[in-house]
Amino acid sequence: MTQKKQFFTTPIYYVNAKPHLGHAYTSIAADVATRFKQMDGYETFFLTGTDEHGDKIVQAAQAQETTPKAYADKISKLFQNLLPILNVKNNHFIRTTDPDHITVVKTILSKIYDSGDIYFSSYEGLYCFGCERFYQERELFDGKCPDHGVAPTVIKESNYFFRMSKYQEWLINHIKTNPDFIRPAQYRNELLSFLKEPLEDLCISRPKSRLTWGITLPFDKDYVTYVWFDALVNYVSALGYPDGELFKQFWPTTRHFVAKDIIKPHGIFWPIMLKAAGIPIYDGLNVHGFWNVKGSKMSKSIGNVTDPVKVTNGYGVDSFRYFLMREMVFGLDANFTEETIISRINADLANDLGNLFSRILSMNTRYFKGVVKGADKNIEKEKKLSLSSDASQAIDDFKKAMELCEFNKGIGAIWQFISIMNKYIDSNKPWALAKENANIPILETILYNLIEGLRVVSCLIYPIMPQTSLKMQKTLGMEKENKGFYTLKEVSDWGQIKKGWILPKPDSLFPRIDGDKSKPRETAPQTKPFKPD
Ligand code: MSP
Repeated sequence: MTQKKQFFTTPIYYVNAKPHLGHAYTSIAADVATRFKQMDGYETFFLTGTDEHGDKIVQAAQAQETTPKAYADKISKLFQNLLPILNVKNNHFIRTTDPDHITVVKTILSKIYDSGDIYFSSYEGLYCFGCERFYQERELFDGKCPDHGVAPTVIKESNYFFRMSKYQEWLINHIKTNPDFIRPAQYRNELLSFLKEPLEDLCISRPKSRLTWGITLPFDKDYVTYVWFDALVNYVSALGYPDGELFKQFWPTTRHFVAKDIIKPHGIFWPIMLKAAGIPIYDGLNVHGFWNVKGSKMSKSIGNVTDPVKVTNGYGVDSFRYFLMREMVFGLDANFTEETIISRINADLANDLGNLFSRILSMNTRYFKGVVKGADKNIEKEKKLSLSSDASQAIDDFKKAMELCEFNKGIGAIWQFISIMNKYIDSNKPWALAKENANIPILETILYNLIEGLRVVSCLIYPIMPQTSLKMQKTLGMEKENKGFYTLKEVSDWGQIKKGWILPKPDSLFPRIDGDKSKPRETAPQTKPFKPD
């Protein structure tokens, strides 16, 4: 049987400014989803990259007195360098200035032009220079661009247009008949309600007299293509469309991760472009909300644009990944503050998980000199000491949530199991049993169940905290040599920890952080330098 395939992407980020917390979130979310799918037996391909053409980049380069290409090279490198720092394992990093990408953009433009879905026309419209696009009246707020808060300029020029209107009914039908096409549902509804009004054709060219930093139209050398037409194509050009092996294997098993700001290009332009070019439609969009910082939208003028490198250096990569995945309900907005990350680290990581780990290991050291004893099946049954059905429940709940990108619920399922294990210790009181020799077989059974429970936890946290997962697994003597993770099927087998294995004395997984807010935590490293796994 051939292995199931899954292709994940992030948006390709604009190179007009350096990466911030929001970009880091999307890349980490896609990485978590990829690692989870691998655990679920899929072969995956994970793509990210940078979007380098258009007016925004020209302006940013001018401000730095450099060329767009030199500027794009510099900022793209920052996005590339961020990935290993966040322990994000992409398979490819695409840049829209890559020659192969440019060729594919031209191929697709020619294909659509030849089929008659691109036409030339004179047009007068409302143009927002910040967004680099024309707006329809009904998309504006108080006559202003909803993103930039400025009134668009009336521009009259001849341009090429893509006949999107022709595909409106088809798209509505596609969204309605594929309930998972846009998840979560609120964004699906948002798009369907937008599509109740007639869709205008999309202006897909910019005259070179106004902008030269773009891909020249294959059918008119005086124009470059609109930056979104160029950018969206990255998702297939990176796979080597039309003949590449990766394209054949991974398209259209695609789920695109995007935030709510770019659902229109992804949910309207992109499926219609694919349809018009005769390319199968991608599987769907995973749409998340926005991170605010201390309650406000991140902005340079407020000075709250949060640098993910500083946060990672301050708190450690796994704590940062955990926080982002735990704190945001996928689809809704979330808020980042130093206080909330510190409190999550102390409560969830240091207390719940870290203490459980060290509690179990210390008891095993104290009572059995670290040697893993086995469980006595009769005692286990008679005294109802098994934790295996709680573990199965956790695995099931985890899987159901992670499949839908409900990362906070997936984590919740693991933490529910951690809490069951903590209560199991409190109610079985190993310290009391240890006082009587006759109780030793019961104690052995309890500790074996707890150690097995730790095994399950160590496997399930892998997509979110790969480093901690590995650290726990090394301690438990179950490090996977080649893959670095256990599949969900493998995790489910209860009783894998080897009897006779000697567990070392516990090493703290997550040191508590004191809440001294007088120190700028982001800039005060707390952890050892991070080495990607
Ligand atoms: N270049 C386009 C995307 C083209 S994809 C074919 C673009 N780039 S961007 O640099 O502006 O990135 C937007 C994306 O960055 C969002 O969709 C989201 O994934 C991420 N985020 C940017 N700010 C964010 C927050 N404040 N919070 C969460 N994610 C955010 O649009």
